[in-house]
Amino acid sequence: MPKTQIAASVLSCDFGNLEKELQAVGSADMLHLDVMDGHFVPNLSFGQPLIKKVRQLSPLPLDAHLMVTNPAEYVDPLADLGVNWLSFHQECEYHVHRLVQRIKDRGMKAGIALNPAAPISTLECILPELDYVLLMSVNPGFSGQKFIPFVLEKVRQLKSWIEEKQLSTLIEVDGGVNSDNSAALISAGADILVSASHIFQSLNYSETIRSLRGF
Ligand code: DX5
Ligand code: ZN
Repeated sequence: MPKTQIAASVLSCDFGNLEKELQAVGSADMLHLDVMDGHFVPNLSFGQPLIKKVRQLSPLPLDAHLMVTNPAEYVDPLADLGVNWLSFHQECEYHVHRLVQRIKDRGMKAGIALNPAAPISTLECILPELDYVLLMSVNPGFSGQKFIPFVLEKVRQLKSWIEEKQLSTLIEVDGGVNSDNSAALISAGADILVSASHIFQSLNYSETIRSLRGF
């Protein structure tokens, strides 16, 4: 079984000590970057200047999660900055297929994010084109929220669908992930676990990352 990847979400890090924080989280498999516009979600996070700095300070792959109403406008700037994985919310884009192709054409892995209440059936046509699906397990906008339990069943259903169709699409779960629910998420089929507060509020980030992976 391939190892579960941990994406450390910098949203909860101490931005005043960015270099130290990124070093301390160096055993993660990738860094998750939550880009928020204050429209799709009721919060603002950070933009390109900070992503540029993160790229300079860390060798880890960058996984950007767009929570913006105009995701197409971010494809070229984020590709130019060296982002490796890019997901957008299906709720925000009329021309989903075209945007997925544009992301791939720029050499990035393409993902679609779904809010907790959005059914996975909406992905039926596009699933074979996707490198990954990001299943939100909190309502997007803030770190530190509680995991919504019914998302576990969405992970299971999506996994069985992916296996049935013999696809290589990965499942990323984002929101409220901690060492109490990570094992259940992994056995349900999650390939990538995102964590912000659970990692950055812990005393030893590498230990916490290990416990999320389950070893
Ligand atoms: C929420 C973001 C998440 C957030 C997760 O809108 O998409 O990536 O950083 O934070 P935790 O792990 O604290 O729930
Ligand atoms: Zn996220």
